[in-house]
Amino acid sequence: MTSHILITGAGQRIGLAIAHHLLLQGHKLILSYRTRHTEISKLEHLGATCIQADFIDDASISHFIKQVNQHTSSLRGIIHNASSWDCENNTLDFAALFDDMMRIHAKVPYLINLACTKLLTANNNVADVIHLTDYVVEKGSPKHIAYAASKAALDNMTKSFASQLAPKVKVNAIAPSLIIFNQDDSKEYKAKTLKKSLMEIEPGSKEILNCLDMLLTSSYITGRTIQVDGGRHLK
Ligand SMILES: NC(=O)c1ccc[n+]([C@@H]2O[C@H](COP(=O)([O-])OP(=O)(O)OC[C@H]3O[C@@H](n4cnc5c(N)ncnc54)[C@H](OP(=O)(O)O)[C@@H]3O)[C@@H](O)[C@H]2O)c1
Repeated sequence: MTSHILITGAGQRIGLAIAHHLLLQGHKLILSYRTRHTEISKLEHLGATCIQADFIDDASISHFIKQVNQHTSSLRGIIHNASSWDCENNTLDFAALFDDMMRIHAKVPYLINLACTKLLTANNNVADVIHLTDYVVEKGSPKHIAYAASKAALDNMTKSFASQLAPKVKVNAIAPSLIIFNQDDSKEYKAKTLKKSLMEIEPGSKEILNCLDMLLTSSYITGRTIQVDGGRHLK
């Protein structure tokens, strides 16, 4: 039986790097993308099953889960990467912002994990669920209040799902602080952000890939959050 790894939001940046990394290792992938970036065709060419999905409501989430079930009978893992770094400064509709953040970071992983339990436990090998959270889970964020709260909800679900799904499925979170800057970040913003960690670098996706490899090859780590933050908590 062919097992797949499911990655959400794999059309760009970290999700895309994860997809290429796992394809190189020989894994079969099912990916979700919202925008059809040019990279999606390349991923399809390399054998990945790419499903367009904009998680705007319960119906779109449930439609995506149905499509996943049509493509595979077994999952080796799920990587919840899809995310939106939206903030209170961008809107006056705080109710909508809160709902959007909670949907993409908490409700989508929650519903997918519950609906895919059978797929995750379909064969004898241990499976993995990995939640991409954020450093702000630990400290909150006055400029991204709803974002931080929704990532904290995801972090908490790591523990609940780890207990529920053990020993057949390990469930862990990776909590990064700065990994890659956004294209339009200013020089001043970059300088200020680099100073926030002890390491003072923009490490790039490789740090997440290393962490992912460690979690996927472990037989014993579950219910934990791996901090990838350059020691930011000590500054
Ligand atoms: N990059 C960092 O330095 C950093 C720092 C801390 C935490 N993280 C976490 O690491 C993960 C990857 O980060 P990243 O910077 O690579 O993220 P990103 O560039 O923002 O990509 C996230 C992906 O999620 C998709 N997405 C957003 N809303 C969606 C929705 N409603 N339905 C379906 N897909 C949706 C986006 O689709 P579109 O392509 O259509 O926009 C995008 O491709 C995220 O979980 C992020 O929170 C990253």
